[in-house]
Amino acid sequence: MALIPQSFIADLLNRVDIIDVVGQHVKLKKAGANYQGLCPFHQEKSPSFSVSPNKQFYHCFGCGAHGSAISFLMEYSGLGYVDAIEDLARSAGLTVPREERTVQDVARQQQAMALSEVMSSAADWYRAQLKNAPRAIDYLKGRGLTGEIAKRYSLGYAPDGWQGLEAVFGPYSNDEVAKTLLEGGLLIQSEASEGNQTVRRYDRFRDRIMFPIRNPKGQVIGFGGRILDQGEPKYLNSPETPLFSKGNTLYGLFEARQAIRAQEYVLVCEGYMDVVALAQLGFPNAVATLGTACTANHVRMLLRQTDRVVFSFDGDSAGQRAAQRALEACLPLMSDDKEIRFLFLPTEHDPDSYVRAYGAPAFEKVIKEAASLSTFFFRVVSEDHDLTTPEGRAQTHHAAKPLLLSMPPIALRTQILRELAIRTNTSPAELEAFCGLTAISAAPSSQSRVQPRTEQGNFPNRMQGAPWQAGKGASKRVAQNIPPPQAPTDLAEQILRVVLQFPHLGKALDSSQRTLAIEAAEQRSSNAMSMMRDLLTQCDSVELIPSESGGTGEVGAGAFAMFQEQLAQSELAPLYEVLRKRVMESDLDLAGASADLEGAFKKLQTNQLKKEMTEITKKLSDSSATEQDRARYRELGEKLKFS
Ligand code: UTP
Ligand code: MN
Repeated sequence: MALIPQSFIADLLNRVDIIDVVGQHVKLKKAGANYQGLCPFHQEKSPSFSVSPNKQFYHCFGCGAHGSAISFLMEYSGLGYVDAIEDLARSAGLTVPREERTVQDVARQQQAMALSEVMSSAADWYRAQLKNAPRAIDYLKGRGLTGEIAKRYSLGYAPDGWQGLEAVFGPYSNDEVAKTLLEGGLLIQSEASEGNQTVRRYDRFRDRIMFPIRNPKGQVIGFGGRILDQGEPKYLNSPETPLFSKGNTLYGLFEARQAIRAQEYVLVCEGYMDVVALAQLGFPNAVATLGTACTANHVRMLLRQTDRVVFSFDGDSAGQRAAQRALEACLPLMSDDKEIRFLFLPTEHDPDSYVRAYGAPAFEKVIKEAASLSTFFFRVVSEDHDLTTPEGRAQTHHAAKPLLLSMPPIALRTQILRELAIRTNTSPAELEAFCGLTAISAAPSSQSRVQPRTEQGNFPNRMQGAPWQAGKGASKRVAQNIPPPQAPTDLAEQILRVVLQFPHLGKALDSSQRTLAIEAAEQRSSNAMSMMRDLLTQCDSVELIPSESGGTGEVGAGAFAMFQEQLAQSELAPLYEVLRKRVMESDLDLAGASADLEGAFKKLQTNQLKKEMTEITKKLSDSSATEQDRARYRELGEKLKFS
């Protein structure tokens, strides 16, 4: 049978937008990062069906249905896999190529090669070229890099020529070869001009050191190329392609992932060379934003890896501006368990040059001393304003207002507001009123994650936060319409949220993890504990099966949906609605959800060890500790060192 090349399927999914595909059958409405509507796969009155334009997949919070545009068509229209692809291809104006496995003409195969395969073949070739390029090797050595680091980052060299990649892909005159290479930004095509009917196609990257840029899965999606001598531009980057967009990419994240976990923080710099040089010099946990402003997506990606982020900026005014942009990107995503710092290096220095000039210990020290988010906040808002005059203080209030409003209602926001009030000779209440953060006009921010969307009517105010704190405080808050404390900081909530969205992840938890999760929930409220217990039991009925399209589907999703319906009717309904809403507006895919879950348990485990340690410490101090206690104490010390 003739097969449909995988590469075509990948291409197809890149071209179609799942919002359009689903939107033809389901009425969708934008909600946060996603779209939502009534699930076509089960009966429901309020929307549980969410479609993510970024992830290009759908997920039904009610019945667990999820998948790509292809699986949507299969499930919705009852089409087979091949028919669904045919259907989708037709709507995108493409014909499905069929690949006979035996006779393959080279050009055709190349055309079928997906963009990502082309990028990775190109990266392989650049890397191989480095071996035969003494000038390039000398350059890298001159910058203090060893072969080992060059290998870890797959550095390469694009030779000085116009048709280098023909060696890999065949003649550029072949339109099919050229098409993908142009799409991937590896080739440049000059327009046919008057009197010259032929188009010229030539390599974008020539005589440059090549830094492959990978996505978090490790696939090469673009390149940065550095000139060996002086010249402009110093770095040439891949253009935006279907695979690569700067605002969604952090250079070095794939390579740094393990180190970020181990070091428990990520260092964010501006350049390729900083990342590679820092890895060489003992800071393998560095990534770079590649000369663009730090975006909310960058911050989201960073906070998925770790709770501690240190941004490093060059000391010049461009660095200051970049830092301010980073601050703006961070504030809406901030929570009380995150720590974000801002490091400013002396003018003329970047991390690479700083470490070389002053050594790794000195760099380590400045990282530790980097300005906290609140410190930098105060600096930004009071910059150029004279706090000794009423005018200067008023201007500071104006500068602070949008930043405060962009923050979720976390404890840190309250603290920053108080501190700012003191520094500007005003009362917190006055400053709150000025910012519109008072009880009367409670509207913290349009971006705030917990701001009730009353206009949708689905989630009345009393659902917001109140379920978490069923005590007196909550009802008072509701009465005054004061935003509740931010809950996403809460580990129990994090676990509940992930398990509601991906029950099979909950199923995989072992008994000690379950105990931890239930204990954590218990600390929140007895409702949260009941919910955690029921949810984990219910997860066990869900079974994961590999689906035809290569992804996975869940069996037992029907039972899970019924369970959720029961939840919605039960006394746990308010809590359930809050969680449900958060899931629907989040943009978490399976990988992100797994990471969240793993992170939550790591913290719970650490907390537990710490608690045990404190108890033994008490015994040690009143001399009631046994030999066993002492041994356990040492063991705990070791464990905590590595956790
Ligand atoms: P820098 O000019 O600070 O260069 O640009 P650098 O990182 O210190 O590089 P070296 O040490 O001279 O090799 C910082 C980042 O801005 C982007 C690149 O991502 C670069 O790493 N940039 C800079 C460009 O994209 N193009 C340029 O021409 C210059
Ligand atoms: Mn540099």
